[in-house]
Amino acid sequence: MKIVLTGYMGSGKSTIAQRLALDTGLQLLDIDKEIEKHTGETISEIISSKGELYFRKMERQKLEELLTRENFVLSTGGGTPCYYDNIDLINRQSVSIYLRYGVKELFERLKNDKQNRPLIARLEGDGLMEFIGKHLFERAPFYEKSTFMIAGAGHTETEIINEIKDLTNE
Ligand code: S3P
Repeated sequence: MKIVLTGYMGSGKSTIAQRLALDTGLQLLDIDKEIEKHTGETISEIISSKGELYFRKMERQKLEELLTRENFVLSTGGGTPCYYDNIDLINRQSVSIYLRYGVKELFERLKNDKQNRPLIARLEGDGLMEFIGKHLFERAPFYEKSTFMIAGAGHTETEIINEIKDLTNE
């Protein structure tokens, strides 16, 4: 079984992946952590020193490599499905699940947790809300190509995990 979690920054992909891996015995993979391990630099350092395009190429390469493994749950970065044909590659090789939240929910979840997220680290208040709104509008068509979608609002992590297990028969 290969499960790939997709969704905007702050949608809980890493936390859900961790708990799901513990529950199911699947290996936990996190694309950002794998890139950081490989380069010895944080994602913020890579993007600020070499630029976002360079990061997207590394991300694609790492995605290809991770998808060749077996029996894992992979937490992607918020941008992973939105570049090249990454989402099609993901869907050919795994069951993908979009953890969906609306703009206001994402704003609430991100406003105090953005320091390690270079794309939004410097934004505050209305500026942050506006950015999330536009960015999510651009990205939603990619996320929505995921095999399944789970609406996160109003649900506990445990409920979300149980739904993923039902959908994937894990
Ligand atoms: C990004 C999201 C981040 C990380 C990078 C770019 C994005 O991952 O990959 O900062 O483009 O949305 P998270 O979704 O885990 O924050």
